[in-house]
Amino acid sequence: MASEIVLLITERRSRQHITLPSGKAPYRFGRSPECEYVLRRNNVGDRQFTIRCQNDLWTLEDEGSAVGTWYNNRYIHAGERCPLQTGDLIGLDTNGDISTQEITFRVEDIRKAESDNADVRREQDTGALREVDVRKKRRVLIGRGEDCDIQLSSDRVSRHHCEVVYKNGRFEVHDLGSTNGTYLDGHRVSAAALENGSVINVPTQVFAFTGGLLHYHEQQSGISLELVNVYKTVKDRNTGKPLNIVDGTSLAIAPNSFVVLVGGSGAGKSSLLTCITGSAPCTDGKVMFDGIDTKGNRNAFDAVVGYVPQKDIMHENLTVEQSLSFTARLRIAHDATRTEIRAAVARAIAAVDLAGREKTLISNLSGGQKKRVSIAMELLASPRLLILDEPTSGLSPDLDRSMMELCRKLSQENCTVLMVTHNMSNINLCDKIAFLGVGGVLCYYGAPEGLNGYFDVALTSDIFEKLRDPAQIELFREKYFTTAEFNELVTQFPEAAQEADKRCRK
Ligand SMILES: Nc1ncnc2c1ncn2[C@@H]1O[C@H](COP(=O)(O)OP(=O)(O)OP(=O)(O)O)[C@@H](O)[C@H]1O
Ligand SMILES: [Mg+2]
Repeated sequence: MASEIVLLITERRSRQHITLPSGKAPYRFGRSPECEYVLRRNNVGDRQFTIRCQNDLWTLEDEGSAVGTWYNNRYIHAGERCPLQTGDLIGLDTNGDISTQEITFRVEDIRKAESDNADVRREQDTGALREVDVRKKRRVLIGRGEDCDIQLSSDRVSRHHCEVVYKNGRFEVHDLGSTNGTYLDGHRVSAAALENGSVINVPTQVFAFTGGLLHYHEQQSGISLELVNVYKTVKDRNTGKPLNIVDGTSLAIAPNSFVVLVGGSGAGKSSLLTCITGSAPCTDGKVMFDGIDTKGNRNAFDAVVGYVPQKDIMHENLTVEQSLSFTARLRIAHDATRTEIRAAVARAIAAVDLAGREKTLISNLSGGQKKRVSIAMELLASPRLLILDEPTSGLSPDLDRSMMELCRKLSQENCTVLMVTHNMSNINLCDKIAFLGVGGVLCYYGAPEGLNGYFDVALTSDIFEKLRDPAQIELFREKYFTTAEFNELVTQFPEAAQEADKRCRK
């Protein structure tokens, strides 16, 4: 009979559940890449322990490495097999004190499984937040190279990108001649002293420094985007008076989600996008990436935000591959080898489903294919937030669908996607819709399924009609303040609620 064991792996602040089916047992845990579960750390043997299942009996066996395997309340001998049941604890550290274990494996459940051939499943409970003690290590080397203490996989990171050192009681960050720069609190630096609360950015990775420790999220994912009371006030061309074209927008976009921004013509969509990209910043309020205010930190995030404008900017007389190779040389680290550049270009081409068209001249591509090349160019920089302004306008309905599917796919990989569109036919493919009323007022932010019910319309197109009426816009602005999405944001940013109260009293 098939069964499966569920382990809760706790490593510092990171917790992960893995479900191991009996059909694929045994599972070896250790430093060797041959292990099914590789533990990349120094105080672990190449083969540390093995979890087996025979006749529905799950067992733990120590593989005789120099480091002991801890089982509930003792170390086990090499070759000893211990039965595993719910609640059992496996640890690794050498000093016998379970509370100081760096990593523990707790048996959460052993249960019947539907099939013997189920896949190993991993569920991240919290992002893998890592920390490195700079005081202990004295020098922490960060880069793409294999010899780095913190190895980053992005092509935009140089082999030896920067280092954090502890010398004479001071902490410093030194850029090591990287191509794409090291930023401290938003400013590009070659060498600078660190203080508690300093934020270091290198392409695709943010480090927070405090108390001698560097903290970072190991798993690369899309950026979260938080807008709190964002306004853009301009001088009205006709009356000369101040005019809000983005009017107090507050919303939170989760990492790796695909959000579509819609609204009538002139509603303020492009204006809101430029507040986010920073090309025309907001006049009031906060735009945050990963909870960090972009004001003053903008440069540090440039590298991770990709923007695909409405008009394609490409050289028509180059092939797809040539065009992308030129861009790659500008965007990825200068110390990248030809093979690395070729691989990056091939990855970008595959990501936008243009494989087979490498040798085609840009001038011979269709509108939709050209748009895909524009997106591939942005993907070369491994963006963690991709912003697209009407990428499907003028495309046929089938191309609109495939563009939406592409955005969905990108969001499931390492990117958050925000896209402006006028086409509502395929909006069920996005995670959330932000609907703007004329005057830059956010009237709805939520799942596509909830849209028509929220506005009490039978056809989505009727919403555009409704949101031309200023009274309706105010009504739905206030209704948004009562939604779960808004209230979730308020728990993090109470100032959004204060502003909402003010707006409602008006
Ligand atoms: N200085 C200004 N004075 C008056 N109105 C302005 C000024 N700058 C922008 N606007 C108006 O702000 C509104 C928002 O413009 P925006 O380009 O953001 O709209 P949009 O939603 O992207 O529209 P579209 O779908 O047509 O692209 C428009 O009505 C525009 O005319
Ligand atoms: Mg626009």
